[in-house]
Amino acid sequence: MPFAEWTKEFSVGVEEIDDDHKRLLALVNDLHDAVEAGAAWNVLDNVLDGLTLYVTYHFAHEETLFTRTDYPGYERHRRQHQALTITVHEIQQDFQDHALETLPHQVLEFLKNWLYEHILGSDRAFAVYYKSWLARQRPEASPAGAGASQ
Ligand SMILES: [Fe+2]
Ligand SMILES: [Fe+2]
Repeated sequence: MPFAEWTKEFSVGVEEIDDDHKRLLALVNDLHDAVEAGAAWNVLDNVLDGLTLYVTYHFAHEETLFTRTDYPGYERHRRQHQALTITVHEIQQDFQDHALETLPHQVLEFLKNWLYEHILGSDRAFAVYYKSWLARQRPEASPAGAGASQ
């Protein structure tokens, strides 16, 4: 059984967000497998770098959707993203500065659990809002003559 894995229970019901989460968890899993395999420093550094970049990409992706939809929970959710972004950069910095041979298991557990909890909590809450926002954008959902106010 993989260390970190996207399963249906993590679906937020929005494909573009689920796709990102599948990739994120796969990257955490890759990092775990590389640590377990005793991979060389540059291999671990590469995987960690890929994860860091993808975390940044994914958070920006969600935040674009918050802006587009005027999400009322934007600030709170964005602060959570910022906190993890800082932590992931610190993990990477520590690994590089001290040329650590490996990553402690707690780091891997922390990343996995943070993502699981965030997906099931904040991301799912946004997805509920986003789906209702999308439904309101459908022309057939607007009363006749309401105009095209986007
Ligand atoms: Fe997310
Ligand atoms: Fe999020």
